Amino acid sequence: MTNKIDPCTLVLFGASGNLARVKLYPGLFRLDLLGRLPDDLKIIGVGRQIVDLDAWRADIKSMLDTKFKKGYDQAVFERFIARNFYHANPPTDPDAFSKLKATLSDESVFPQNLAYFLSVRPVDFAPVVESLANVGLTQEDKYWRRVVIEKPFGTDLPSAKTLQAAITKHLKESQIYRIDHYLGKSALQNILLQRFTNTVLEPIWNNQYIDHVQITNTEMLGVGDRTQFYDSTGALRDMLQSHILQTLALTAMEQPKDLTPEGVRDAKIKLLEEIRPIPVSELEKHAFRAQYAAGNINGEQVPGYLDELGNKDSVVETYAALKLFIDNPRWKGVPFYIRTAKRLHEADTRISIRFKKAPLQINDQDQNWLIIGIQPRECIKLEVQSKIPGLDIQTRTIQLDAANRWESDDSVDAYEALLLNLMQGDNSNYLHISEAEAQWRLVDPVVKAWAEDKRPVHQYPAGSRDPLESKVIFEAEDQFWRYSIELGGDK
Ligand code: BG6
Repeated sequence: MTNKIDPCTLVLFGASGNLARVKLYPGLFRLDLLGRLPDDLKIIGVGRQIVDLDAWRADIKSMLDTKFKKGYDQAVFERFIARNFYHANPPTDPDAFSKLKATLSDESVFPQNLAYFLSVRPVDFAPVVESLANVGLTQEDKYWRRVVIEKPFGTDLPSAKTLQAAITKHLKESQIYRIDHYLGKSALQNILLQRFTNTVLEPIWNNQYIDHVQITNTEMLGVGDRTQFYDSTGALRDMLQSHILQTLALTAMEQPKDLTPEGVRDAKIKLLEEIRPIPVSELEKHAFRAQYAAGNINGEQVPGYLDELGNKDSVVETYAALKLFIDNPRWKGVPFYIRTAKRLHEADTRISIRFKKAPLQINDQDQNWLIIGIQPRECIKLEVQSKIPGLDIQTRTIQLDAANRWESDDSVDAYEALLLNLMQGDNSNYLHISEAEAQWRLVDPVVKAWAEDKRPVHQYPAGSRDPLESKVIFEAEDQFWRYSIELGGDK
């Protein structure tokens, strides 16, 4: 299904920042290479520095050269570069937005449907919207006006509500595109399709057959040069509140009434609102946090989080795990364990579903797992018990393992997909305010309790598996963290 794109101008605030350089400009160029940009699309980068057009276009070329090391099609490059303009918005200039309006009003250059991408500091989201509105640049009459707000949308429920109140003075919900870049990943979009376009999955997707679900994102990377940002955020807010809860919503939601943006988002909102609040009085049975200590990643010695931060007193987690229950008939009694970590032994994002024990058990350990791999490998695996050929009655686990991605498939970056959706006016892969709020409502009490608890946080050596102590959140003795282990035997 492809949607038509109206002629439009993309206005990229924060155009020389890291996201724009690494994702947005290369992403737009890739869309141009794929022939997915309308002929009359224009892109205007907005930044604080004064840069002339030639220098700006040379800078864009350097962004593309860095990304596309093997070279690219020159004709498309010429077309792409001619789409690009620059506007300086120095913060000290009180007329900066009137000047932007004057620039954009040249209809012979800029199509009047305007999409603003705010790749700026979160504190600037509301002021930029307000300044655009003050000069009449958010008003929709003959033309549409859309605003992309980068993650995070607030840092807790009250700040999300404050931001929402500030921007909805000027924008309707349909004009607001809140990013969670995981929703731009094809592997996440596939969850919904794989669940509901196959007859075999839906009948077993409930508490009658499922013992528990694990949604996992682990990285081998550390916090890198983002120590200050990370220390004011932590794993729970950085990853679980957003990407992982969205993955859970897609995994557990009911079938949407249709695939329209409203249909999909309504189904997710309903699910997110059915997640039972985490009981803070019993937090230790429901939530676990830890920090990475010095260790070894791929044979290289790496420092611990506190050393990188230069503050031994921080209790901010680089590992967070939660146990959640969903209060609806489908999922009553089924724990959902969600976890994320930096510097674990493997970088892997997946959904692991363990089924209940079969009536006939040859080995105590026999279990069926269904694993949906999100990254690095996009796959679906089913583990089943099978007789070991021979004279004895013995079983072993075998895997039905299918790649969701074939070598010949296009690899589209999440931001490319989201930019295209933005121009198409399709916000199904962007967050509705009710999703953002439900997600904050769920994690806020844990964030608060953890911030107040100043006891030293559990440490795990970089490159290790989950800290053993994290098992306290399991409901049953026979539950354990599932890794992306390949089974032995013939492949
Ligand atoms: C970002 C987080 O939102 O997602 C980062 O701020 C994290 O800490 C990143 O590393 C992971 O994204 P991806 O697409 O690499 O899995």
